[in-house]
Amino acid sequence: MLTDNFGRRFYYLRLSITDVCNFRCDYCLPEGYQCDHDRDFLSFKEIQRIARAFASLGTEKIRITGGEPSLRKDLPEILAACKTTPGIKKLAITTNGYKLSSQIHDWKDAGLDALNVSIDSLDPRQFHAITGHNKLQEILSGVDQAVTLGLSQVKINTVLMREYNGSDIDTFLNFVKETPVTLRFIELMQTGDNQVFFNKQHVQGSRIKQQLVLDGWLPVIKEKSSGPAQEFYHPNYKGKIGLIMPYSKDFCASCNRLRISALGKLHLCLFADQGLSLREHIQNNDPAPLIAAISSLLNDKKASHFLHKKLTGATKNLSMLGG
Ligand code: 5AD
Ligand code: SF4
Repeated sequence: MLTDNFGRRFYYLRLSITDVCNFRCDYCLPEGYQCDHDRDFLSFKEIQRIARAFASLGTEKIRITGGEPSLRKDLPEILAACKTTPGIKKLAITTNGYKLSSQIHDWKDAGLDALNVSIDSLDPRQFHAITGHNKLQEILSGVDQAVTLGLSQVKINTVLMREYNGSDIDTFLNFVKETPVTLRFIELMQTGDNQVFFNKQHVQGSRIKQQLVLDGWLPVIKEKSSGPAQEFYHPNYKGKIGLIMPYSKDFCASCNRLRISALGKLHLCLFADQGLSLREHIQNNDPAPLIAAISSLLNDKKASHFLHKKLTGATKNLSMLGG
């Protein structure tokens, strides 16, 4: 099992397969995707080698991320390859939902267990304004299909932004009253590109936590392997609420994930100073050097991010790395 110098175990890999995204979320890619490098993304074969190497080091869960992963035509094959890798028990994806309703059946057939969809507003006009796409209703119908298909986990990610959804918390709570999904409020994080936006829009999740507790929501007991999100349930609600508060104390203590970018770099933290290239090893048919490189690079993982000091590392925006 991959373990770092702070005793944290990494059973979970977030694997980005493209950094291209077709949405223009105001906090991430307000001008849309701009390519400043060769689009030499990991090939299907390289993805397979990465999955095998991590699985041999104890990784049990892979999440496919982007950019927007469904922009790759070979996504179903990638999903199937990850899911059939010996040792991988759980396969997840994070998507902006653009192709959700048309592709969720294929993803499920390929072995998908868990789905995260980004929805920052339940108001169609606001959703359109944030993402540049008038797609809310279609995406919500995709979420319904995912629930009906019996995926083991369906989650919605909602980035908190003062002027966009900061006063709509009750709308989201009403939504999970009848919808059996986990809706997670994510505190806006500062990245290299969004400083002005961040300063204007960042709100703390702790206020929501206080409201939930007053309203009778109860904390879901965390499993040992669960990550930094805090989740709450309520007897009168079919869904759950989660809070991701990267600025809160001890957030990083339960870090359980490593990241690989679409260019084959290992990122020890979402906000690390740099990605560490594994490409040469990934292109090698022999898995041993790749496995050795991952284990040895893990020694450099720091105890925490440095977001409090406004140090955002190499992360210009999260489409580079899929969150
Ligand atoms: N702060 C917080 N969350 C972000 N995401 C993208 N950029 C940011 C940011 N700066 C979210 C997306 C998606 C997940 C992968 O990360 O909305 O749900
Ligand atoms: Fe929005 Fe995600 Fe695309 Fe960034 S990568 S623009 S957060 S959908």
